[in-house]
Amino acid sequence: MVEIVKPGLEHLPSYKAALERGWSPDNVRLEEATREQLAAIEVDPVAFLAGLDDPEAKGPPVTLPDGTKVPRLPGFRRWIWDGEAAGSIGFRWQHGTAALPSHVLGHIGYAEVPWKRRRGYATEALRLMLAEARAVGLPFVEITAKPHNPASHKVILANGGKLVDRFFEDAAYGGAESLRFRINL
Ligand SMILES: CC(C)(COP(=O)(O)OP(=O)(O)OC[C@H]1O[C@@H](n2cnc3c(N)ncnc32)[C@H](O)[C@@H]1OP(=O)(O)O)[C@@H](O)C(=O)NCCC(=O)NCCS
Repeated sequence: MVEIVKPGLEHLPSYKAALERGWSPDNVRLEEATREQLAAIEVDPVAFLAGLDDPEAKGPPVTLPDGTKVPRLPGFRRWIWDGEAAGSIGFRWQHGTAALPSHVLGHIGYAEVPWKRRRGYATEALRLMLAEARAVGLPFVEITAKPHNPASHKVILANGGKLVDRFFEDAAYGGAESLRFRINL
């Protein structure tokens, strides 16, 4: 069985072990994020966990891949859990609107540890996260995925997503072409 959990101290050893195996929960900043998280867990595990749950955007600005800093949106992260850490799924939004700034690549992002892929976990995790997005009052969510990421496309389509746009990511991300999907809630 797979579920999404609010990250807690009881989940941390398994999550940390996944980072130590080289997995990154961040599809944009990859190894850099893995290193940063391991360091943060070492310094103050409780503060690290608290920072993952930030529906009022109290946290520090977000650093984009080119180093630009932008204000943090309200958001929270859940860990994909099957008795062990299986992945991470995050949700961010703006209060009162479904719109996102152009430098925010979708409302929801996810990553599965490589050794637990192709078990339906990401599809189920997204289904569960959509309920949380509905609960904050959004009429739809947008999710972006690169054209060459069929696994992610399948996860989105299996949850009722429709392709709505082809666009170029902001220069801060390198300007690559990407796809925007929408899921009505
Ligand atoms: C995308 C990702 C989250 C999918 O996780 P997952 O738990 O393996 O997904 P699921 O098991 O729910 O699989 C979804 C579908 O994609 C298919 N799939 C999985 N990996 C695939 C691959 N490499 N190529 C083609 N299809 C693939 C699965 O077979 C399944 O299809 P099915 O329902 O027809 O069988 C995972 O591959 C991952 O973490 N990738 C790196 C990070 C990433 O790309 N995140 C998304 C950014 S938009």
